[in-house]
Amino acid sequence: MEAFLLTYGVEWLNLLGRWLHLITGIAWIGASFYFVWLDNSIKPPAPGSELAGKGVSGELWAVHGGGFYNPQKYLIAPKELPQELHWFKWEAYATWLSGFALLFIVYYFNASAMMIDKSVADLSSWQAIGIGLGTLVVGWTVYDLLCRSPLGEREGLLGIVMYILIVAAAFALSKLLSGRAAYIHVGAMIGTMMVGNVLMVIIPGQRKLVEAMRAGRQPDAIHGRRAKQRSVHNNYFTLPVLFIMISNHYAMTYSHSYNWAVLAAIMAAGVLIRHFFNLKHKGRIAWGYPAAGMALLLAVAIAIAPRPAARPQAAANGAANDAGFARVQTIIAQRCVSCHSAQPTQPGFATAPAGVMLDTPALLRQHAAKVYQQAVQLKAMPIGNLTQITDEERAIIGAWYEAGAK
Ligand code: HEC
Repeated sequence: MEAFLLTYGVEWLNLLGRWLHLITGIAWIGASFYFVWLDNSIKPPAPGSELAGKGVSGELWAVHGGGFYNPQKYLIAPKELPQELHWFKWEAYATWLSGFALLFIVYYFNASAMMIDKSVADLSSWQAIGIGLGTLVVGWTVYDLLCRSPLGEREGLLGIVMYILIVAAAFALSKLLSGRAAYIHVGAMIGTMMVGNVLMVIIPGQRKLVEAMRAGRQPDAIHGRRAKQRSVHNNYFTLPVLFIMISNHYAMTYSHSYNWAVLAAIMAAGVLIRHFFNLKHKGRIAWGYPAAGMALLLAVAIAIAPRPAARPQAAANGAANDAGFARVQTIIAQRCVSCHSAQPTQPGFATAPAGVMLDTPALLRQHAAKVYQQAVQLKAMPIGNLTQITDEERAIIGAWYEAGAK
């Protein structure tokens, strides 16, 4: 098959995989947010009431979509197993499977462009892919062992240790992979922990509860407690992971030289904001948490704000003297157009990435501000510096743009 048809096919797999990932992710996170809200919002029935007699530990009334709902929670389990019992697991599994497929489609099939940044580490594609997959396996193993260890009994401390380990992983990945790939692998690692919790702990625990009831035994409360612990972790993981999944659109975060610290701060902000909602469901309003989260985000925004680039004087003079544009065009043709063209020649690219085409003077001028942002301010382009642009060339583009992009 023609190579461009193959990359075009991969582009469609990318579209379908991402669409599916988003849909299943919404279904999973939506259901899990709902159950956290439910669990935190239910109130115990009056002592001695009929409900209390049935073993109901909490209930509430809600109105939604034109109907009234009255969910009730049984502590450990109801006296008799209902005929039909709904499980929630395929949302989680499908989210992970589609996400894992996307790792291959977006990153592993095109590792030299998407994962490797030779200014970070000069890796081969296989090394980069090995590091990526290894991160998922090691991440889950360490996390699961910690939860099962004595530390697992001490929730607060476990949370702090997990945060430090995740930041350490982000640091290590930022020294090995391109910023973008480092971020996505931190997200994929946490996402794998979340799905691991569902597959390996929560669902098996629930199975044991159900089996015990079928056999007429009193179910052991430990299964419920273990599942609850993992479900609480998943809840706090959610906002950090969702940020990472959209982080690819924000080169200002992942391409910063302290990208791992930026990620650490944004993840912490996500946890603080989530904590606010968990308390709020229980009727406690503690504005300090989201305020601290927003303050962190503001601090990050200020810390990573682009500064005027210190550029070699010779380059700036050169750009001004030559009236710049011809040189800029040559640089763009050499460093950018292999991807940013209607017919990219770079293997693995079927269409112009992000729809940005730079092959004519008019197109280049039209995209001048974005070119400046991506190639000069953020140094996010060329992606992974695959085409090896030099700092001097960046400076020439910078001087041209600052002189009015004529
Ligand atoms: C190896 C291929 C490749 C090369 C070479 C390359 N880019 Fe890109 N570019 C990409 C990809 C992939 C994206 C899409 C990134 C994303 O998905 O967020 C992109 C996106 C962009 C965007 C849009 C960013 C946005 O967020 O809207 C701009 C602008 C851009 N590149 C400019 C450049 C410039 C300028 C150069 C040369 C200095 C360059 N690129 C070289 C692959 C490349």
